[in-house]
Amino acid sequence: MRAGHTVRVVMTHSATRLISPATLAALTGNPVVVDVFDEPEPGQIAHIRLAQDSDLILIAPATAHTIARLALGLADDMLTTIALATRAPILVAPAMNPAMWTHPATQAHVQTLRARGVEFIDPTYGVMACGDEGWGKIADTPVIVQAVQQRLQRTHDLQGVRVLVTAGPTYEPIDPVRFVGNRSSGKMGYAVAEAALAHGAVVRLITGPTALTPPVGAEVVRVQTAQQMFEAVQAAFEACDVFIAAAAVADYRPERPLPTKRKRQSQHWTLRLVANPDILGTVAQHKGNRVVVGFAAETDNILHHAQEKLMRKNLDLIAVNNVLEPESGFEGDTNRLTLIYADGRVVPLPLMSKRDCAEQLLQAVREMLLRKGRLTA
Ligand code: CTP
Repeated sequence: MRAGHTVRVVMTHSATRLISPATLAALTGNPVVVDVFDEPEPGQIAHIRLAQDSDLILIAPATAHTIARLALGLADDMLTTIALATRAPILVAPAMNPAMWTHPATQAHVQTLRARGVEFIDPTYGVMACGDEGWGKIADTPVIVQAVQQRLQRTHDLQGVRVLVTAGPTYEPIDPVRFVGNRSSGKMGYAVAEAALAHGAVVRLITGPTALTPPVGAEVVRVQTAQQMFEAVQAAFEACDVFIAAAAVADYRPERPLPTKRKRQSQHWTLRLVANPDILGTVAQHKGNRVVVGFAAETDNILHHAQEKLMRKNLDLIAVNNVLEPESGFEGDTNRLTLIYADGRVVPLPLMSKRDCAEQLLQAVREMLLRKGRLTA
């Protein structure tokens, strides 16, 4: 409310055992609804009104039971009925005993809801009301408020822009069970895809093997090898406005993958590798006025190598990081990027989450689209 929002409170019956609806009605200046048949405004069907008029639905604190009901699509009280009837984004801030939060049933429901676009403000570690210690404490209020603000501030400033993203490693088969590959979680590319969707872009995500759930709304093409990724990118490049190559493509592949598993038979084994196509470097040669962005993971002489790559691959921007830094590795959730533009600008960014890195990158992409006349303000 202090940030200027109108807040309407919906309570479950259990919630009313802990806090009185009258208290929340007085605090928000709006009637509180609990029952499906509550009609504080005569003639208006409250659950439809609230479902349709809300810009965002925050469920805080959310119990294991409510999360399960949301995942199953039950509509057995006012809250779950509204959640089912709304098209507004739903944010959930769970609060429960650690055993309940980590229970496979709860985690499966969380996965289901995430895949459906529901966002979780994850619980923190701490001591519960019951005395147990662990993960399950509701996130701090400022964290919840910030999550709500960020979700509401989502824009449409890349509305309709077609963004092609590569992510993850590629696996180059040695034999049916072994491969040559890179250490890449795919997190950076998935974050870029997610952020682009949040700005209204149309996203095609071409991904190597990862353990991640692709963001809701992306058109996902799954590949294994660099050659497959190359073909998928070539098929999509023509129709894109922006290409962001975040994949850690294996530069070489075994020349002749074995048809059957190689047995341990000698002290040495020499593999002959041949170069894979440079996906980014090839398609960017014919980029027209598309915006093309690459990543560079370097360990030494970082700016020099990145600048050379930017020129050689005909990029508009390259985002470079030092993979030897503890917080900017392949598997972490954070990154420290330096953005190098084709016009020579070098913009070092502070350490931030990969999602925030993606936001910064898209900001830069948007400016370049405007400059190239591929997007109008
Ligand atoms: N890339 C690509 N296809 C490849 C290799 C890399 O599309 N076969 C892309 C990556 O997705 C990344 C950028 O090119 O955006 C830089 O990758 P990197 O491996 O650092 O570049 P290389 O050209 O392979 O240079 P290096 O000699 O440092 O490995």
